[in-house]
Amino acid sequence: MVSAESVDRNPGLPAVLLTEEQIATRVRELAEQISADYAGRELLVIGVLKGSWVFLADLVRLLTVPLAVDFTMVSSYGANTESSGEVKTVLDVKCRVEGRDVLVVEDIIDTGLTLNYIVDNLRLRQPRSLKIVALMDKPARRRVGISADYVGFEVPDRFVVGYGVDLAEQYRALPYVGYIEE
Ligand code: IMP
Ligand code: MG
Repeated sequence: MVSAESVDRNPGLPAVLLTEEQIATRVRELAEQISADYAGRELLVIGVLKGSWVFLADLVRLLTVPLAVDFTMVSSYGANTESSGEVKTVLDVKCRVEGRDVLVVEDIIDTGLTLNYIVDNLRLRQPRSLKIVALMDKPARRRVGISADYVGFEVPDRFVVGYGVDLAEQYRALPYVGYIEE
C-alpha cells in the first residue's frame, strides 16, 4: 500500500489528495445510496473510458441491484490537460439504451464539456432515466451547466492522477488519488 510516509520517501510519487481508505469509504457510501435509490429496478451502468474503470469496478461490486455494464469512450481535440470543447465519440455503447435506467460513471468533471456531450448523446436514445455518478468534481472550472447526481469528492483546481485517472497514460494504477505539483 502507498502511504503518506512512502510518498514522502519517494519524491517521484504524486502528493496524496485522497487516500485509499477515504476512497473506499466514499465508494461504499455512494454504492449504498445508489442501491437504495434504484431498489427494485435494473441499471445500465455506462463507464466513460478510460478514467472511470477503476472506480466503476469498485462501485459495481458494491451495488445490490441487478445491472449490466457498458462503456463509451470520447476524445476531445486540442491540449492534453484541458478539454478543447470539441468532443467526438471514439467508442459507442453497444447496449440498447431506450427505456432503461442509465447511470453514467465518470472519473472527474472539470469543464463539464465531455459529460455534457455524452449525456446529450444518450438522451437522444430515450432512456427511462439518466443519472451521473462522478468520483471527483472540480466545480471551480465548470463551463457548462452540468452536475452529477452523485459526487464522491469535490476537489480543488489541481491536476489529479491515480485510481484510474492519468497524466499521459501514467499513474492509472496508483491506488490513491494524488496531485501533480506544477
Ligand atoms: P471536462 O470535459 O473538462 O469536464 O473534462 C473531463 C475529462 O478530462 C475527465 O473525464 C478526465 O478524463 C479529464 N480530466 C479533467 N481533469 C483532470 C485531472 O485533473 N486529471 C486527469 N484528467 C483530468
Ligand atoms: Mg474521463
